[in-house]
Amino acid sequence: MTQPPRLEVTHLAKSFDRRRVVDDVSLSVMPGQVTCLLGPSGCGKSTTLRIIAGVDRPDAGRIAVDGALICDSTTSVPPEDRSIGLMFQDFALFPHLSVAQNVAFGLGRGRDVAPRVAEMLARVDLPDYGNRYPHELSGGEQQRVALARAIAPRPRIMLMDEPFSGLDDRLRDEIRDQTLDVLKAEGTAVLLVTHEPGEAMRMADEIALMRDGRIVQRGAPYNIYNTPVDLAAAAFFSDINVIQGKVRGALTDTPFGQFLTPGLPDGTLVDICIRPQHLKIDFDRAGRGPSPTPMEGSPARGIVQRARFMGSESLVEFRMDHDGTILTAKVPSVFLPKPGTPLWLMLRRDRCFVFPRA
Ligand SMILES: Nc1ncnc2c1ncn2[C@@H]1O[C@H](COP(=O)(O)OP(=O)(O)OP(=O)(O)O)[C@@H](O)[C@H]1O
Ligand SMILES: [Mg+2]
Repeated sequence: MTQPPRLEVTHLAKSFDRRRVVDDVSLSVMPGQVTCLLGPSGCGKSTTLRIIAGVDRPDAGRIAVDGALICDSTTSVPPEDRSIGLMFQDFALFPHLSVAQNVAFGLGRGRDVAPRVAEMLARVDLPDYGNRYPHELSGGEQQRVALARAIAPRPRIMLMDEPFSGLDDRLRDEIRDQTLDVLKAEGTAVLLVTHEPGEAMRMADEIALMRDGRIVQRGAPYNIYNTPVDLAAAAFFSDINVIQGKVRGALTDTPFGQFLTPGLPDGTLVDICIRPQHLKIDFDRAGRGPSPTPMEGSPARGIVQRARFMGSESLVEFRMDHDGTILTAKVPSVFLPKPGTPLWLMLRRDRCFVFPRA
C-alpha cells in the first residue's frame, strides 16, 4: 500500500464578502518534504494556511492528515488537536520566559520535557542558551529558538508563513538552510508560504504557484522554472523578454527566425518569451551579424541603450533595429558594452517559451 500524503488538501474554497480568496486549492505534502505556496501579495496564501491550521473555516473542501479527515463541511478538528506546528513572520517568543521555558511551552509536564528541550536546543545549535531570555538573543538566535519551540512537540506538519522575512539577507540564507536540515531530520511535512521565488526554489521539493486564489501550477522548482504554464508564471521567476508574432501555417515569423507553433490557428498572436540570461550576444561585422545556426536561429541587431554592472553579471538593454522594442540580456560582467554600440542578439531556442497571447 502506498503511503498517504502527510497533508492533503482538496478543493479548498473561501470567500470574504462574496469575493473568492481561495478558489479550488488542492495540494499535498509528504513526510519530510517541503511544499512552497508561492505567489504575489494578496493571492490567498495566508488564508489557505489559516484554514489548514484550523483558525479559519473553509466554505468548501477537505483536509486530511495521514489519511485521516480533520476538516470538511461537517467536521472540524480543533487547531490544538491537528498535530500542526505554526511559525509566522512575527514569531514572538514569550519575553518573560527563558529560552528553555519557551521551547518547553508546548510540551506539557513530565520527565521527558527537559531532555527534549536540550535535544531541540542542540539541534538549532544553541545548546548553552537555555537560561537566557529572549532580549539577550540576536534576531537570528530568536528565530532558531522559535523553530525549536515549534518542532519540540513533534508536529506532523509545520505551517510556515514568511518566517524568514524579518532577517537580514546573509543570516536568512543560513537560517533557511539550518531550518530545512532540522525539519528534514524530524521528518516533518512543511508547507511554507512565500512571495519570493528565490526562497521557494531554495527550500522547496515542490512549488505550488498561486495566483488570484488558484493554484496555477505545481511541480519541482526545476520544472516550474523551466516549463512555466504561461507568461505570468514565467515572469514571476525573473525578468522576461517578450517577442511578439502572429501564426501563419503553424509557424510564427520573428526577426529571430521562424518558430514552430503547431496547433494554433492562423492569425493567433503569440508571445515568445526568453529570460535575459538566455540571449546570446555577438559583435557587429560592418553591419552584419553571425551566420544563423539551427540552435540559435537568425540574429537580430540592436543598439545598446544601457549597460549595468551587477557584480557577477552585467545587464544590457538593447533597442532593437527591427521595431524599436527593448530587450534585456544578462551576460558575464567582464562584458560591459558602451551605450550606442550595435550588437547582434540571438535566442537560445531551447530556452524560449511560446504562449498564445492571453
Ligand atoms: N478576514 C478577512 N476579511 C476580509 N478579507 C480578507 C480577510 N483575510 C484576508 N482577506 C483578503 O483576502 C485576500 C488574500 O489575503 P491573504 O492574506 O491570504 O494573502 P497573501 O497571499 O497571504 O498575501 P501576502 O503575501 O501579502 O501576505 C486579500 O485580498 C485580503 O485582503
Ligand atoms: Mg500572507
